[in-house]
Amino acid sequence: MTVQSPIIFVLSGAGISAESGIKTFRDNDGLWETHRVEDVATPDAFARDPVLVHRFYNLRRAALSDVKPNPAHRALARLQSSLRERGGDLVIVTQNVDDLHERGGARDVIHMHGELKRALCSACNFRWDCEGDLSIESLCPACTTVSRARPDIVWFGEIPYQMDRIEAELARADQFVSIGTSGAVYPAAGFVQMARSMGTPTLELNMEPSLGSTYFDTARHGPAGTIVPIWAEEKLGALNKA
Ligand code: NAD
Ligand code: APR
Repeated sequence: MTVQSPIIFVLSGAGISAESGIKTFRDNDGLWETHRVEDVATPDAFARDPVLVHRFYNLRRAALSDVKPNPAHRALARLQSSLRERGGDLVIVTQNVDDLHERGGARDVIHMHGELKRALCSACNFRWDCEGDLSIESLCPACTTVSRARPDIVWFGEIPYQMDRIEAELARADQFVSIGTSGAVYPAAGFVQMARSMGTPTLELNMEPSLGSTYFDTARHGPAGTIVPIWAEEKLGALNKA
């Protein structure tokens, strides 16, 4: 990379989609206030009561039709496109299972906790796009097994996706930026320390100091829809001057 073509690694969490109208997990009125993780977000829960688990994720999938990307998603997409034109990059790794980064224009988003609009066959591991409801009657399009389709979501106790690629992207990044995440769930919560250990500058953009805020070199606190576009414009301005 050169000064004009840096590689920026962005880790996003539920906070970036909050102003679009998607509930976060741990804020007041967050999803984990009204649902028990053990009832809806573990492999055991799915084995015990697949109807309940499907209902939880079907509602969340359907709710995506009522929401739109906000200025934070769109600003990241613009910055990504400008950096790519210069030979740099903005790599987006998200813990979010929504599709708002993509709908805001971002490319090649890494969904480390899976995607609501994908299904996974727990019999043969085939994955497919899924816009509508899943049920215990859903059929796997590859192996035709019935009743083993699950949402393609990384549940508690499961290993997040694409960790090797994420670690490689972290290693080549010139800056690490964490947006809208509480820093409560590992391994994502540990990325800031991995970046620091490699001497990479770290920035937190979050409503309030996260659990890991002391690990960041710098922080800006406020709503993502306001502070992310400001940061992205400043970044572009600095690149244009360099
Ligand atoms: P945890 O911190 O206890 O475990 C994380 C998992 O990742 C472990 O299985 C661990 O072995 C593995 N892991 C850690 N570092 C790794 C690395 N470098 N490479 C590969 N694998 C590594 O977290 P948890 O409570 O077991 O949660 C597991 C995941 O499920 C979390 O990422 C969580 O966010 C996700 N989850 C998602 C939802 C959802 O609705 N989207 C709900 C619940 C949990
Ligand atoms: N702008 C910026 N930050 C915000 C906003 C906003 N408008 N609203 C909330 N936040 C911040 C909160 O202050 C909080 O620190 O976003 C963070 C959201 O934290 P969590 O609800 O814990 O969400 P997240 O960090 O994405 O959760 C991680 O936990 O259960 C799992 O798999 C699930 O991917 C999720 C993981």
